[in-house]
Amino acid sequence: MIQHLLHIGHVSKHFGGNVAVHDVSFSVDEKQIFGLIGPNGAGKTTLFNCITGFFPATSGDLIFDNKKINNLRPDEVCRLGMARTWQRVKPLGSLTVLENVMVGAFSITNATREAEGIAREQLQMVGLTDYAAKSAGSLPIGLKKKTGTSQSAGHPSQNAASR
Ligand SMILES: Nc1ncnc2c1ncn2[C@@H]1O[C@H](COP(=O)(O)OP(=O)(O)OP(=O)(O)O)[C@@H](O)[C@H]1O
Ligand SMILES: [Mg+2]
Repeated sequence: MIQHLLHIGHVSKHFGGNVAVHDVSFSVDEKQIFGLIGPNGAGKTTLFNCITGFFPATSGDLIFDNKKINNLRPDEVCRLGMARTWQRVKPLGSLTVLENVMVGAFSITNATREAEGIAREQLQMVGLTDYAAKSAGSLPIGLKKKTGTSQSAGHPSQNAASR
């Protein structure tokens, strides 16, 4: 049997009588880039919230790296190697871009110097090195998004879920 990195099996999410996600199934393999598209209100963010533990799915299976993650908390899902970004970009505005990305790196190390090294690598990867010392709150929206991507990537993730 093929083992997928992420398997979503017949997942539904109801908010009272509102069916936000209905019977969604797909699988994502290691190193695969997988897109989820749909009109406003289709349930994309709700599904991301179920996958990353922000609230439980009403039904269905959520399997990550061969583990059932249906009832895990966000921090538990994170420690399994799942990182996410947010649709509404909200960096820690009073911190620098580098410090924001270090926050993500602190999920894998307590050592400040190591976290800084990881963060600088991530910033280089998305072309934000020159913005490292700038206040994250002062960046335009596109660069704030990139900061969020770096922050989630400064984590030993096998799957970075983006909004
Ligand atoms: N916490 C919540 N409580 C109640 N209803 C919710 C909640 N979150 C989302 N919904 C509802 O679930 C449905 C799906 O919304 P969702 O935000 O997941 O859609 P989306 O596909 O991400 O839309 P968009 O493209 O606008 O970001 C909507 O009807 C929304 O009002
Ligand atoms: Mg959304």
